[in-house]
Amino acid sequence: MTNAAPQTIYLKDYRPFGYHIDAVHLTFKLAPTATRVIARMQVRPNADYPGAFFLHGQELTLIWAKIDGVPVTPDVTAEGLTCDAPDAPFVWEAEVEISPDTNTALEGLYTSNGMYCTQCEAEGFRKITYYPDRPDVMSVFTVRIEGDFPVLLSNGNPVGQDEGWAEWHDPWPKPAYLFALVAGDLVNHPGTFTTKSGKDVELNIWVRPGPDEAKCAFGMEALKRSMTWDENVYGREYDLDIFNIVAVDDFNMGAMENKGLNVFNSSCVLASPETSTDANFERIDAIIAHEYFHNWTGNRITCRDWFQLCLKEGLTVFRDQQYTGDQGSHAVKRIEDASLMRSAQFQEDAGPLAHPVRPASFVEINNFYTITVYEKGAELIGMLKRLVGDAAYAQALDLYFERHDGDAATIEDWLAVFEDVTGRDLGQFKRWYEQAGTPRVAVSDDFTNGTYSLTLRQHTRPTPGQPDKAPLVIPFAVGLIAPSGAEVVPTQLLELTEEEQTFTFGGLSEKPVPSLLRDFSAPVILERDTTNAERAFLMANDTDPYNRWQAGDALASAVLMDMITEDAAPDAAYLDGLAAILRDDSLDPAFRAVMLDLPSEDELARDIAETGGVPDPMAIYHGLEALRVARAQHLQDISPRIYADMQVAGPYSPDAKSAGKRRLANSALSMITRLDGGVAAARQFEAADNMTNKISALAQLMNIGKGEAQSAAFRADWKADRLVTDKWFGLTVARAAPEDAVGTAARLTDEPDFDMGNPNRFRSVFGALANHHAGFHDASGAGYRLMGDWLGKLDAKNPQAAARMSTAFETWRRYDPDRQAIVREVLEALAGQDGLSRDTSEMVGRMLA
Ligand code: PHE
Ligand code: ZN
Repeated sequence: MTNAAPQTIYLKDYRPFGYHIDAVHLTFKLAPTATRVIARMQVRPNADYPGAFFLHGQELTLIWAKIDGVPVTPDVTAEGLTCDAPDAPFVWEAEVEISPDTNTALEGLYTSNGMYCTQCEAEGFRKITYYPDRPDVMSVFTVRIEGDFPVLLSNGNPVGQDEGWAEWHDPWPKPAYLFALVAGDLVNHPGTFTTKSGKDVELNIWVRPGPDEAKCAFGMEALKRSMTWDENVYGREYDLDIFNIVAVDDFNMGAMENKGLNVFNSSCVLASPETSTDANFERIDAIIAHEYFHNWTGNRITCRDWFQLCLKEGLTVFRDQQYTGDQGSHAVKRIEDASLMRSAQFQEDAGPLAHPVRPASFVEINNFYTITVYEKGAELIGMLKRLVGDAAYAQALDLYFERHDGDAATIEDWLAVFEDVTGRDLGQFKRWYEQAGTPRVAVSDDFTNGTYSLTLRQHTRPTPGQPDKAPLVIPFAVGLIAPSGAEVVPTQLLELTEEEQTFTFGGLSEKPVPSLLRDFSAPVILERDTTNAERAFLMANDTDPYNRWQAGDALASAVLMDMITEDAAPDAAYLDGLAAILRDDSLDPAFRAVMLDLPSEDELARDIAETGGVPDPMAIYHGLEALRVARAQHLQDISPRIYADMQVAGPYSPDAKSAGKRRLANSALSMITRLDGGVAAARQFEAADNMTNKISALAQLMNIGKGEAQSAAFRADWKADRLVTDKWFGLTVARAAPEDAVGTAARLTDEPDFDMGNPNRFRSVFGALANHHAGFHDASGAGYRLMGDWLGKLDAKNPQAAARMSTAFETWRRYDPDRQAIVREVLEALAGQDGLSRDTSEMVGRMLA
C-alpha cells in the first residue's frame, strides 16, 4: 500500500464558516472503551457567508443525529459529516461513541494512568464529537460529565455536582481547541488569588494522590506570581472564579492553555528540590506563566485560523520571556533566548523544514508548533517593541486588547494596532512574518577624518518554496568602543531598510571597535571579517552583556574550528579572557556561568558545513574534549576558589540568585573533575541535598568515564519517580561515549520501565540520542537506523510525537555521502511504511525533497 497524497491547506483559501454556533451543550458518559458524547448545539446560518453544514469528525462512531428533534442521516466520511440544514436557526444534536483507553495518539479524549483527560489543540476536538473544529468558530460551552470519579473538571465555573456527575459552564465564548475535560481520582493543592479589582479566585493544582502532592507548592507560587505580573505589566486580570491546573503523565507537549483548566505535562509543573534541577524550576515557572498569559493572548483573543498560530504563541513566548527576565537576570535570559535562536531556530531556517513565522500552507498543523513560530515569533514582537519604543508598545497592546477582545484575529489585525498607535507603515515589517530564512547582514566599516562609517548589506538565502527574498526592516543596535575600552558611542538603534545602507558616527578621535547587533536586536546572522584579538577585546570590554557573551562564543568557535580542522592548540587569548571574567567578582555568577558555556557539537558541525567543509563528528567531539581539558588546566588556580565561593548555604531555594551560584559552582566542578579524577564530584554526589548538585556531580563523573556506582545508586533510589527516571535515561544516553551511545540507547529500550507510549520516556532516550552528536552520527549508521526503526514504531501509536522526533534528521545533508546514503535509505523506508501518519509523512517528505 502506498500512502495517499495528503491534502495541502492554504492560507489564501480561508473562508469563514457558514454557521454560527451560539451555544453548545456536551454530555460525557465516561467509559474506558465506550464513552458516549452527546452534543447539542444552537446553530444559526451565517448570512454573510452561506455554506454547507459540515462538521469535522474523526474516529467517531455516530449513534444518532437530529435537527430540531427530528432524526437525520448525514453523509459521513473519515473527515466529518455533511447534513442538509434549515436556512434558519436550528438545534443540532448528535451522540457518538469514542474509546479513550485505546487512544494512544494522546489527542482528543484519552486516559493516562487511570485518569481521563483531553488535548484538543490544534484539531483534536473532532475526535470527541462532530463539530466545526476551527478556531474562528467560538461558542459558549456547558459541559456535563458523568463518571464514577471523585473529581470531574471542565472549563469555566462549576455550576453543579453530586455523586457521579458534575456540570461546568464557561461564560466566555471559545473555540473548540480550548475545550478540556479531566476526570479521575485526584487531589488538589489549593491556593487563592485576589485580583486587583478585588475578585477572589480559587486556584488548584490537581495531581494523583501520593508523592506528587509534595511537588505542587512551587507551581502554585509561580501561578500567583504570573497572575500578579500580568496585572502589573499588561493590566490583564483573570476572568473566572476558578483556575485549575492538572498534571498529566502522558502528554505530547509541555502544557496547554485550555480556558480555566490548564493541562500540564507533569514534567512542566511538578517540582521539588530533591527531584528537580534549578533549570527545571526556571522552566516550570516560565511554562506556568506562559499558559496563564495565554488567557488573554490566545483565549480572550484567539487566532482566526492556524496560519495565525504565531499571533498567540509568539506574543505569549515574548511575554513569558519578559516575565522570566523580571524574576532574575534580564541579561542572562536574553543570552539564553538568543543562543537558542542562533542554534536551533537558525538551523530550522537554514534547512529543509524552513517556513515563515506565519506559514502560507501546511499539510498537518501539528508540524508547525515549531521554534520558528514560537521563538522567532517572539523575536518579531521584540523587534516591533524596539522599533516603536516601550511607550508605544504599551499603547498598542492596550489597543489590541480593547479592539480585539473576543475576536479570532490575524497578524494583519495585530500589526494594525501598531500602525494606528504610531502612524508608522509596517508593510515592510510584515515581511518578517511571511519570509522564511535568516537574513544575513554583511558589515564593513571605515574610519576617515574622525568619522566612523558602518555599511550594512542584507541578504536572505532562498528557502523551500521561496527563491526570492525582499529586504526587511532590521533594527540594528550598535555601540562603539574606543581602543582604551571606554564606550564612546552608547547603544543606538539603526534601522536597516534597504539592501545596503551606510551609517556614520562623527567626532571620534580614533577608530573605534564596533559592538554590533547589541542585545541580539534582530534575529539575523552577522557576516564580518574580524580577528580573535577583536573578539577577545569585546569579550573583555563590551558593556552589552549579550555582545560580551557573543564575542566569547565567537572566539570559542574560532578557537575550536582551528583545533578541529588544523589540530591547533587552544588560543591563549580565549583562555585568558575567560580567566579574567571568572576572577571578576563584580559579575553576576549566572553571567559568568554562561560565559563558560561552549558551542555545541551541532553548532560546530554547522559552522564547518557553512564554510564549505564536511563535518567529521568524531573530530568535533575530540576538539571539544581537548578544549575542555585545556580550559580546566588553564583555569586550575581559579576553579577551586570559585567552587568554594559559590557554595550556597542553608536550605535549598530555587531563586535566581542561588541558582546562578550553583550554576557557576557546577561549571567550576566540571573543570575540577577533569583534573582530580572525580574526587570532588564524588564528594558532591554524596553530600548533595538537591537534584541540581546531585545530577551535575553524576554528569561530571560520567564525563570522565566514571560514576558507574553512583549511576546505579541514582537509578535504584528513584525507580518510583517517573520524572527523575526520565533524567536517568536521558543522562545515561547523553554521557555515553560516542561509540557506545547507540548501543546504550538500544539497551535502554529493553529496560522494563521503558515505555514508548509515554512521550517523556521516549524523548528521554531518543531525544538524548539525537542530541548526542558524535553518537547519533556514528559512521556505521547504527544511530540513524535505530532512530528510524523506533520512529516507525512510534508513528503507529503516536504520530505527533514521531513527527516531532523525526527532526533528528533535519541536518542530514551536512554530512558525507556515505552517511547521507544511509539516512536517505532510512527516511525512504519510513516514507514507504504502511499507513504512515500524515504528520510523519509530511516531515519526511520535506526532509527528502
Ligand atoms: N498551545 C500550547 C502552548 O504553547 C502548546 C500545545 C500545542 C500543546 C498543541 C498541546 C498541543 O502553550
Ligand atoms: Zn503557547
